[in-house]
Amino acid sequence: ATKTTFVIAIDGPAAAGKGTLSRRIADSYGFHHLDTGLTYRATAKALLDAGMPLDDEAVAEQTALDLDLAGLDRNVLSDHAIGEAASKIAVMPAVRRALVEAQRRFASKEPGTVLDGRDIGTVVCPDAAVKLYVTASPDVRARRRFDEIAARGEPADYQAVFEDVKRRDARDMGRADSPLKPAEDAHLLDTSEMSIEAAFQAARSVIDAALKSR
Ligand code: DC
Repeated sequence: ATKTTFVIAIDGPAAAGKGTLSRRIADSYGFHHLDTGLTYRATAKALLDAGMPLDDEAVAEQTALDLDLAGLDRNVLSDHAIGEAASKIAVMPAVRRALVEAQRRFASKEPGTVLDGRDIGTVVCPDAAVKLYVTASPDVRARRRFDEIAARGEPADYQAVFEDVKRRDARDMGRADSPLKPAEDAHLLDTSEMSIEAAFQAARSVIDAALKSR
């Protein structure tokens, strides 16, 4: 069954715009979408809520195994502290193994799927029909994050947001298991000076070409 499923893998660092782009692609093609960051966030939140430590691999693994993908709610998981905690538990191989298995099951849904994260094209779905690596400079990503926070009417400090972005990059790119990096056959999409619309059109031409040649 997995043979006919058309998988689009979208990777990149935090705040590069891959979430918005992925949702838009999934809507446009009528594909299922999974933001895999939410699986790490939900696992981290469950540990925090239970008052459990973030560095006990066996406990974190069991929490990841118990996760229900159907219950993931972006609004509940968007908190900055949860993102930081997610990045910490994401270094543990047993946690990744459990979540990657659930992500692969999701990826095989018909007629097609869009998964976004850090290791989709390299580890979760290495045979994906389309791989996109979405980036933007750290400064542009920090600026976008800062604008989002300010738009919610919350106090925001640009320098603090910028430092956060760089720390998150270092952790996600520096870990031993499944570090963030472009797959060799990924199409690079630098959105530093691109609107969402332009990024979507660029992605669409890559996807349409792959659909035509299947
Ligand atoms: O994309 P995000 O900010 O929701 O992801 C939160 C953290 O989860 C991220 O800093 C690292 C981890 N993550 C991962 O290791 N692999 C993925 N495929 C997705 C997220």
